[in-house]
Amino acid sequence: DNNKFQAIISHCKEYGFIFPSSEIYDGLSAVYDYGQYGSELKKNIRDDWWKWMTQLHENIVGIDAAIFMHPTTWKASGHVDNFSDPMIDNKDSKKRYRVDHLIEAHVETLSEEAGNALLAQMDQLLAKEDFTGLKSLIEENKIKCSISGTCNWTDVRQFNLMFATEFGAVSGENDDNMVYLRPETAQGIFVNFLNVQKTGRMKIPFGIAQVGKAFRNEIVARQFIFRMREFEQMEMQFFIRPGTQKEWYEYWKAERMKWHLGLGIPADRYRFHDHVKLAHYADAACDIEYNFPIGFKEVEGIHSRTDFDLRNHQEYSKKKMQYFDNDLDANGKPYGNYIPYVIETSIGLDRTVMMVLSEAYEEQDLSTPDKQDSRVVLKFPPKLSPIKLAILPLVKKDGLPEIARQLMDDCKGSFRCFYEEKDTIGKRYRRQDAIGTPFCVTIDHQTKEDGTVTVRYRDSMTQERIPMSAVKGMVEKAIAS
Ligand code: GAP
Repeated sequence: DNNKFQAIISHCKEYGFIFPSSEIYDGLSAVYDYGQYGSELKKNIRDDWWKWMTQLHENIVGIDAAIFMHPTTWKASGHVDNFSDPMIDNKDSKKRYRVDHLIEAHVETLSEEAGNALLAQMDQLLAKEDFTGLKSLIEENKIKCSISGTCNWTDVRQFNLMFATEFGAVSGENDDNMVYLRPETAQGIFVNFLNVQKTGRMKIPFGIAQVGKAFRNEIVARQFIFRMREFEQMEMQFFIRPGTQKEWYEYWKAERMKWHLGLGIPADRYRFHDHVKLAHYADAACDIEYNFPIGFKEVEGIHSRTDFDLRNHQEYSKKKMQYFDNDLDANGKPYGNYIPYVIETSIGLDRTVMMVLSEAYEEQDLSTPDKQDSRVVLKFPPKLSPIKLAILPLVKKDGLPEIARQLMDDCKGSFRCFYEEKDTIGKRYRRQDAIGTPFCVTIDHQTKEDGTVTVRYRDSMTQERIPMSAVKGMVEKAIAS
């Protein structure tokens, strides 16, 4: 439902969640800024992932590696040679396309039989990297030729998705000065494998987790924060004994799904998608897909990466990437030295924000026979809500703001609160609904007499009176679960 998707995008902008980057200059394609509520939401998701992965898994530790890495890193990882897509430019429209996307879009216009035949031809040519053949295929099928009747294509060529920049004071022809903005955070973990293993006295199996920015010069960059050129990844590399990758792969599939379900999202909103065509580093891989308003799409990847990365770093750096395992095998002998295998879990933070927003967003018709009414509510789990508690004095006099301020001072050190005294209570409630605040409390004249406040619940919109002294505990309990 594309309307819902568009409504969420507008809502995000209107309520301070997500803005186009440098909007006063008309934005920058596929780059976004998080506003006052978006940044809180994103941080809450990041913190939840971090706590779950590192604090609750005793054999996983976190690091924070730099975005810039030695250029050889990307030769060893295969990104210089393999992290590219075949592209073609239409000389008339000056548009650049990924070849597979161009052909797949054309297939939609064909009968099933003709479409499948074309896809089969494409797959063969892609597998052989036959770029001349791919160009002919596009021309013969008159793809995007319908308007002018002619096809004016450039040759097909590989387009690397990494951003490169120059390092240090001198710019010039010297390739040695080139560095890349990392296209994944994973390599920061691989190059630090021995540092962490030795200094942390880690024993296999163990994991290293990291959250950070990654950059990809995406060609098909659209769909809001779904495919960005600058985005954030939350990755974990789990180092294991070779030969045990199948069981650990299954373990992490199940384990990661537990985290997803812990966000309060029902199981039927998710599915696993196994990869048939594997990335250059993987021996098994799948995605966790979520049912977005625009259909099931990937949120997280789980990959069995074998010893691909550590072995290549050993070869390029000439530093041993081995681990000595003194556990005993079935014959009572130590397993000894080996390069560990790796299971990776890799989730996009921005896509998770989009998932949480999609799940929470609800337009409700609240009309009664005598009155038209509606609201937009974001039903976030309280632990993820940007604001946990809104504190609202009923009127701006009679000492009510002072009492409200006391409650504010009592709570704001423990969780994010919001104080507001403008407008009617009804309007104030709706504004909190729109940013997903689970609890509003109103301080009124009765508060002065008996110390109770009205708490109003976001989801049910019901209200009850509770002692003001019980407010903090109620919110803390809700965000702990
Ligand atoms: N280290 C493995 C790796 O990077 P990936 O499947 O290329 O694997 C992992 O990326 C996750 O990162 C994806 O599942 C997705 O959530 C997120 N991601 C990848 N490219 C993205 C982009 N251009 N914009 C936003 N998120 C992206």
